[in-house]
Amino acid sequence: MAEQSFDVIVIGAGPAGYVAAIRCAQLGLKTACIDRWRDDAGKERLGGTCLNVGCIPSKALLESSELYEHASKHLQTHGVRCGGVELDLGDMMARKDRLVNHLTQGIQGLFKANQVTWFQGHGQLKGERQVGFTAHDGQEETLSAPHIILAPGSAPVELGSAPFDGESIVDSTGALAFDQVPGRLGIIGAGVIGLELGSVWRRLGSEVVMLEAQDRFLSFCDEQVAGESLKIFGKQGLDIRLSTRVTSARVDRDAGGVTVVYEDGEGEHEEHFDRLVVCVGRRPCTDGLVNGPVELAMDERGTIHVDEYCQTTVPGVYAVGDAVRGPMLAHKGSEEGVMVAERIAGMETTVNYDTIPNVIYTLPEIAWVGRTEQDLKKQGIPYATGVFPFVASGRARAMEDTTGFVKLLAHAETDRLLGAHIISSRASELIAECAIAIEFGASSEDLARTVFAHPTLSEAVHEAALATLGHPLHIP
Ligand code: FAD
Ligand code: NAI
Repeated sequence: MAEQSFDVIVIGAGPAGYVAAIRCAQLGLKTACIDRWRDDAGKERLGGTCLNVGCIPSKALLESSELYEHASKHLQTHGVRCGGVELDLGDMMARKDRLVNHLTQGIQGLFKANQVTWFQGHGQLKGERQVGFTAHDGQEETLSAPHIILAPGSAPVELGSAPFDGESIVDSTGALAFDQVPGRLGIIGAGVIGLELGSVWRRLGSEVVMLEAQDRFLSFCDEQVAGESLKIFGKQGLDIRLSTRVTSARVDRDAGGVTVVYEDGEGEHEEHFDRLVVCVGRRPCTDGLVNGPVELAMDERGTIHVDEYCQTTVPGVYAVGDAVRGPMLAHKGSEEGVMVAERIAGMETTVNYDTIPNVIYTLPEIAWVGRTEQDLKKQGIPYATGVFPFVASGRARAMEDTTGFVKLLAHAETDRLLGAHIISSRASELIAECAIAIEFGASSEDLARTVFAHPTLSEAVHEAALATLGHPLHIP
């Protein structure tokens, strides 16, 4: 068979790869995208981790479980009585699956509309301009292109002390598809996945115990935010145990469930759980990605070395998304995909890594962008802080939703905004205006002099900016 040639070949169709492929095609480049993802029924699917087993299904269950908890516990406060609220887990899961199906098919439609050629199977970098493709039926082919974009994504880290068995000890994918609400759910790792999935199952009725190795909760967050959220999650009933070290997890085949042994400052403990979720981080999926005489530099974890423009050590080969440095976030990967596509087309696009928003989709949500207070202290940067609590917001009170605050950090001399940290049920939406402000180089005075609609939760951002300047209007 004659070698098929393209202008660009993308390996991986997660949010980094599929966005790169679409943007390349929009710019007139003849583009192919290879992806090997198949669902449990063997159906090929685009969208990678994010659409199939990540962002989308987790947010579907977060939304459904939040509605269930609201209907069962909180609506009464508003004078709304709805007796006999019942959970139908099967229906909840079916809705999640329909949503995933709909969105992954949407990418298929976008590929078609933009004329991206989709190759279903495994891709390997063979040379500077060559990619090996193995279809699911084993047929092999070599494709060529002057530009190759690697977007293989990431996979869950497995712990030697608690290996996955797919039934009792599972990763995040398993925890998105339980067929029953576990009575007691153990979670190793109180990070982003642990908190989101722990919240889902707690709302649906599980008793959730989280075993976290570090002594500081959410060590990557602003310390004030981490401290406040630990209190909030504790009150909700998430039993978060810090400074723990899991030494073994034994699946009990007869009685069912898992016995976990862990150590902390007080000695050794044993806990029995119906299910155990291990979510202790993710690692790049770069095993078997290269098969040929190319020097693609990676570190010991398999993270591909790239420069600020996502160029690898191989000329004409780029890498984007979870497989390269930086936060493992869908929107970060997508923006890298756009940057690489546009640079291939001769544009001078860059990604501003200082303004990537982060969100933990718990209730309340935790969101941030830019620098933390501890970062600024460490680097000796003089700063002013402005904090506004939602308890002083009229809209938050009307919503019966006053937990949390907005915290802004601005340079003490120039007043330029350096960071924003929000705990609120709508933090994921509120953080966008802060990201725009920081991206545009705004000062806290710029925010303070902007007119915000009343009554909105956004006014808390306005008031925090006023507080940074020393004269908030609605707190003493
Ligand atoms: P991936 O999405 O992992 O896609 C990589 C694709 O490449 C896969 O389809 C894989 O099959 C394919 N592939 C790999 N190697 C090859 C090969 N050699 N040949 C062919 N195909 C290959 N991020 C957020 O920003 N917001 C969220 O709310 C969020 N929630 C999450 C919830 C969970 C439970 C998880 C697990 C992750 C979540 N993430 C979230 C992280 C997000 O999913 C990832 O950052 C994102 O998917 C990374 O995109 P990517 O394109 O780099 O890789
Ligand atoms: P994470 O890095 O957020 O959290 C892992 C936690 O496990 C950390 O607190 C770590 O200290 C702890 N840990 C590590 N080893 C441990 C051990 N042996 N015992 C106990 N605790 C241990 O990683 P997580 O939650 O697995 O998520 C992976 C990535 O996926 C995230 O970093 C994030 O980039 C992405 N993600 C993003 C989401 C979002 O944007 N809302 C949602 C879910 C995932």
